[in-house]
Parts: sequence; C-alpha cells; structure tokens
Amino acid sequence: MSHISRHPADRVTIPSLRLWREQGRRIVMTTAYDAVAARIADPIVDIILVGDSVGNVCLGFDNTLPVSMAMMQHHLEAVARTKPRSLLVADMPFLSFHLSPQETIRNAGGLLQRGADAVKLEGGAKRVEMVRALVDCEIPVMGHLGLTPQSVNVMGGFKVQGRNADDALRLLDDAHRLQAAGCFALVLEGIPSELAGRATESLTIPTIGIGAGPACSGQVLVFHDVLGLIEGHRPKFVRAYAHGFQLLREALSIWAEDVRQGSFPGTNESYRLPEELAEELAHWAPPGSH
Ligand code: KIV
Repeated sequence: MSHISRHPADRVTIPSLRLWREQGRRIVMTTAYDAVAARIADPIVDIILVGDSVGNVCLGFDNTLPVSMAMMQHHLEAVARTKPRSLLVADMPFLSFHLSPQETIRNAGGLLQRGADAVKLEGGAKRVEMVRALVDCEIPVMGHLGLTPQSVNVMGGFKVQGRNADDALRLLDDAHRLQAAGCFALVLEGIPSELAGRATESLTIPTIGIGAGPACSGQVLVFHDVLGLIEGHRPKFVRAYAHGFQLLREALSIWAEDVRQGSFPGTNESYRLPEELAEELAHWAPPGSH
C-alpha cells in the first residue's frame, strides 16, 4: 500500500461541498475505475466515485453483489495514483459494512489509507450504527438511499423506489437519520423527483441525484453512461453525451484495416538503424548459408 499525498490548492474537500450547498452551486460527480477515466474526468467534475458499479460496468457481473473489498482496493489504488483534485469517494461493497462496527471501520479505514477521501455506503436506518462508528473514527461517509443496487434481491429488480406513502416517508426519515449520524452528503438514486426535492430542501447536507430528478444539490452518472460506452439498453435517467462505443469501435476498425492493408505502421511510426549498420545487415546471411 503506497501513501498518496495530494496538495494542489484547488482540491475539492468536504467543506467545499458544504459551501457549495449553501451557495446553491450544483455538484457534479462521476465514476472512475482506472487511471485513464480518472485523468479524463478530474479537471471537469467535483467528485470522483470509485463505485462498486465497477462490477457490472467493467468486470462482467450482472450486479454489484460479487464485488469484494480486494476489487475495490485494486480499482481505488489505480484512481488514487493519478492524485485527483476532485474529492475521491470509494464505495463500500456488499458485506463490507454489515457485520460489525470493527470490521466496517477496518474496511473503510483501508480505503482511506489507499487514497480515498471518504467512503459511500448504501442503506438507511439499519446502517446508522455503522455510519456513526465511521464518523467517530474521522472517516467521512456519503450515504446512499432509494434504489440501492446492493438490495436488488429484496427490491425484486432495479425498480424506482419511494412511490407509495410508506416508502416515501421512510426514505425521508432515513435521510434525516443519516444526516444526524454525520453523513456529509447523500446519493438519492431511482426515486421520484418530488421526493428527492423534498429530501433536498429539508436537509442541510447536499443530495446527489441519479434518476432522482433535477431538484438535488448535484448529479451523478456513471462515466461509461455519460460517454455512451455501454452497448444495449440505456435506462431512462441516462443522457449519453457521446456515442463512445460506436466511436471507439470505428477507430479500432480503421486501425485493423490499415494493418491488413499494410499501411500501418508507416515510416513515421517506425525506428531506423544508422545507414552503415543497415547496409551491413543487408549483406548479412544466416550461419551455414554460404
Ligand atoms: O456504484 C456506483 O456507481 C454508484 C453510483 C451510481 C451512485 O453507486
């Protein structure tokens, strides 16, 4: 584990988010799972999330449940090595914050020691004890409510949450419990806009929405979704700003064609020997061929 030190003056911090919430400046968050994505995103966004969505976006799993602490550490370390100026938040994967406060603290602390500024964890009232334990150890926590992907089996699929009175009131209650436990921000995922709006105006900490309408203090989308890098079905809440998948495939196919035609590599993409050595090699014959 290498210690990451990052000191640029314009670093985004938790107090920055508090200030922006007060000023009404919207917060922008995206995911990064490797150094390339982190370098692309860092000058643009305020928060980089090493999300457990790495499981379904990059690792080929159907959902986030198989993602382990070791996987999160591996991807976090790649992102942290780029020393981003954005606030760097790492997801706590399934079962890493459920068993005991001690294990939760050790797992979250390990993420901070690998370069995260804060951790994010899913769930409401049931997780408040763990949030308090982390905050007591100076580990900043971002909460996550609504369509929490680690609860996919309980929800019976990836379905919009908070659509009836009981669920909506429970979500508002959970949001206030998490704030009282010390969360510095909350992700609100897959809930009706009005509910996200009510949560946002009643809380003092910022809310960051995904599929939760425009009233949140900020928005998050998965990097690969913003860039159109995922082939196939696109959820209603995603707006793709590039046709990344198609664009990259076209570029790759032009390169493959150039290789097949012999036009890649060209002279400029090749190394040369000094002239005399090239001449000498031209007269060289394999041993035993005279
Ligand atoms: O893992 C993730 O990418 C997330 C965001 C979608 C909020 O939790």
